[in-house]
Amino acid sequence: MTQLPGTTLDRVRPRRSVPAVDSDHSHRGKNLNPGAGGLFTTTGLRGLVRSTKALHKLVVKMRTIRDSRIERRWNVDTITVPNLAPRRNVRFKDSVHYEAIWYPLLFKYLKPLDPGPDDVVYDIGCGMGRTLLALSRIGVKKCVGIEICPELVEQALVNARNLRGGKCPIEIREQDASQAEYSDGTIYLIINPFGEDTLRTTLESIKETLTSDPRHVQLAYCTPRHENTLHDCDWLKFAGRKRSPFHNMTVSYWVHENR
Ligand SMILES: C[S@@+](CC[C@H](N)C(=O)[O-])C[C@H]1O[C@@H](n2cnc3c(N)ncnc32)[C@H](O)[C@@H]1O
Repeated sequence: MTQLPGTTLDRVRPRRSVPAVDSDHSHRGKNLNPGAGGLFTTTGLRGLVRSTKALHKLVVKMRTIRDSRIERRWNVDTITVPNLAPRRNVRFKDSVHYEAIWYPLLFKYLKPLDPGPDDVVYDIGCGMGRTLLALSRIGVKKCVGIEICPELVEQALVNARNLRGGKCPIEIREQDASQAEYSDGTIYLIINPFGEDTLRTTLESIKETLTSDPRHVQLAYCTPRHENTLHDCDWLKFAGRKRSPFHNMTVSYWVHENR
């Protein structure tokens, strides 16, 4: 070892000697005894993070396998994400990137809305149309998707055309949600597509449609991040909440009563 000028070998040596745990060095770096503080050593933590990441990867893989099976049966693809060009046409810079909700969770969150043949359902930020495809198979009056990314719109249109077992028309509109038109909807789904500015403007547009066409409306909002914006709407009443702590997801339900 070369000695750096001005240092002595003693100074660069560890001050405290590390107690010898095991003479068999093949165990180095493994968390042999977490109960004895091993978990809180750097190597223990690294091992924990690595195994948590591996477990997470496995769970994601298993979910994707399940989603793929459903999509093969339905003859659609909302899993393969196309290359997305940077969005320039957004009014507020608060868009959330595309991520589809896991099918079993989607079914769970749609259930309390009890969508039926009289419902016109809007999915605001519809991506490649996963939610709309499920709703069309359930059988509502009409599905409308609003999506800002042209590449996702293109695939959503292909999916709507190819869907097996769909029972109603699916309309996809390439639009910024804050500038879209929301007349005739009875259920509005907002599955974490954007931040507060777009959310506030979108809610204002939905409210306006109720003046010209008073009707009963339900709304589901995913992730509680901007829930205050909904609490601020005096025309909406909080109707309940569903959680999936394992998936770190919450959906709140809101209604507008037509009196
Ligand atoms: C979390 S994904 C929603 C997935 C979708 N609901 C589904 O069923 O698969 C959010 C989507 O909102 C879209 N989005 C973001 N900002 C938007 C905006 N201002 N107007 C319309 N769509 C927007 C994104 O491009 C993305 O596809």
